[in-house]
Amino acid sequence: MKKLTNNSKNIHFAAELIKKGDIVIFPTETVYGIGANALDKEAINKIFKVKERAKDNPLIVHISDKNMLNKLVKNYSELEEKLMDVFWPGAFTIILEKKEEVPFEVTAGLDTIGVRMPANKIARQLISTAGVPIAAPSANISGKPSGTRLEDIEEEFKNKVEYAIDGGYSNYGIESTVVKVKENEVTILRPGSITLEDILKVCPNVKYDERILRNVSKNETVSSPGMKYKHYAPNIPGVLIKRYNDESIIEKVINEIKKRKDEKIIILAPKESIETGKYNNYTNVRKVFNIGSKNDLNQISKKLFHLLRKIDKEDATYYIVEGVEEKGLGVSIINRIIRAVEYNVI
Ligand code: TXA
Ligand code: MG
Repeated sequence: MKKLTNNSKNIHFAAELIKKGDIVIFPTETVYGIGANALDKEAINKIFKVKERAKDNPLIVHISDKNMLNKLVKNYSELEEKLMDVFWPGAFTIILEKKEEVPFEVTAGLDTIGVRMPANKIARQLISTAGVPIAAPSANISGKPSGTRLEDIEEEFKNKVEYAIDGGYSNYGIESTVVKVKENEVTILRPGSITLEDILKVCPNVKYDERILRNVSKNETVSSPGMKYKHYAPNIPGVLIKRYNDESIIEKVINEIKKRKDEKIIILAPKESIETGKYNNYTNVRKVFNIGSKNDLNQISKKLFHLLRKIDKEDATYYIVEGVEEKGLGVSIINRIIRAVEYNVI
């Protein structure tokens, strides 16, 4: 994987690669994506192959301006248009009815397509220079945390993807919010950087799909195939301790440390808990990673995937994550962590 620094010559070079059917890793404000021309079946198949992605899990298609929608979707409602106008460009993906011209390879056989206009300037320049919509899943091998820095995914894609545009650390660090509109109701299929509270300002009827914070079995029919799959997971098992209040959460983490005497443990905790010094006195605790202040959820979401990946670099056998309050962006953060720990929640 060769790193391309962010300049217009390199963006033109990458756009040429996309036009001729190659795949390129590029930055967005949420996480890095592996992009290909959304209208080119062969190119799309390359993404599925390098990512080892399940064939029934559709890709999000990225556009640089609203005119590109005409190539991709049939009509949309007034509410759908309003949501696009408010949240684009940004971390917002909307599921719409696809046009025939969009290959079923992109939508994994579905009649609907997820579309997003990213805010990241490099991403938009790449799309507009290529002149085609770019399909892109998060840049990670399926099951791993999404890439938020090129350094974190270099190894993974070493001999698989030839070029990657470097855009530094992704701003938000977790993926876009995915929504579907039915009549006058918005359902959040995947919570992301745009929160339910943000959407409420545009539409009074918003709800989470009830599968967002629970285990989804492989045989269930789901509104978004991505819900079914293991995701974001380090190589070793872990547990999420839910935050009901600040005092009891520290006690629960300590119980878990005591219970697991023979493990080599990594703890992910907010700075406030670390500063109490209560996690210092245990020989089975190898390292404590600071996820940021519990009151700064933006910071936590930005660092989360990088820290989950860092666990694999340590000589450890188990990890414990201290939860955050499940409100606003906290819902999106917990949604990622419960999948990382494979629903092992206390
Ligand atoms: O922030 C993001 O959305 C990043 C960046 C690169 O844009 N992309 C991303 O893509 O997270 P991916 O492929 O890792 O996740 C796409 C999610 C999956 O959960 C998939 O099931 C869902 O979107 N999805 C895509 N098309 C869909 C559709 N037509 N109906 C329902 N869910 C869909
Ligand atoms: Mg992904």
